[in-house]
Amino acid sequence: MKLKFKEALKKSSIEKNSKIILALDIPAEEPKKLFSKAIKIIRETQKHICAVKFNRHLIIPLDLKTINKLIEETAAFNLPTIMDCKIGDIGNTNKIIAEYYFKAGFNALTANPIVGWSNALDIVFETAKKFDGGILLLAYMSHSGAKEHFEALILNRETGTIKPQYLIFAEKAINWGADGVIVGATKPDKIKEIKALVEDVLPIISPGVGVQGGRIEEALAAGADYIIVGRSIVLAKKPSEAAEKLKHTITNALKSL
Ligand code: XMP
Repeated sequence: MKLKFKEALKKSSIEKNSKIILALDIPAEEPKKLFSKAIKIIRETQKHICAVKFNRHLIIPLDLKTINKLIEETAAFNLPTIMDCKIGDIGNTNKIIAEYYFKAGFNALTANPIVGWSNALDIVFETAKKFDGGILLLAYMSHSGAKEHFEALILNRETGTIKPQYLIFAEKAINWGADGVIVGATKPDKIKEIKALVEDVLPIISPGVGVQGGRIEEALAAGADYIIVGRSIVLAKKPSEAAEKLKHTITNALKSL
């Protein structure tokens, strides 16, 4: 039986001795150049990372056939791939989006729990199962505006309980069988609270370090299991050196916990 995505990610992290998920966010370029830059960055950084996350930076300008070549290049280094598409539409549309991405070869997709289960994410989880893929759910995003909704207090009319939205999302991630929750590194206090809830059942995947201001040491101390890094590596003069340095920062931070 194929490993569940969270197990595959853990295995890769142990093998590569790295907790870095590379966000392959290459700034706009002519498609051929984007492709060759992407290949170069994957090859240069593969030793220092445990997975590669794609986003619209490549998905919009490149066709899915070309994306598949990048996925194959990544897979050749035994690195899992994630499409950060934050699926959040009605079920039928979600199904089509998920099928396209899983057929292109992605191992996991991100999804937005705000759309709910019935006729929305139920179909996404079903589709993921069909492809042996994983789903990572947003719990608290890394940008400043995330506060407006992720921190809203939600009244459960049936039980009368009031909880912040991010804890409800983390609970749903467990109940729906997700492979991880995404919590911004800019919010170590929220990582801590969510960690207390998900414990070792689900990994916490944390974007927002470097350019967005999150601190790796704080995110790890709060309970983050993986760190997503984009621009700090992709825009560096030497992406390989930047990735290696960040890998050591993480190793040292973990040692001092
Ligand atoms: P940087 O350059 O800021 O890139 O290191 C971060 C990458 O992660 C994405 N991102 C998020 N994805 N939830 C997500 O699912 C988030 O809270 C979040 N914050 C950042 C961002 O789009 C980029 O690809």
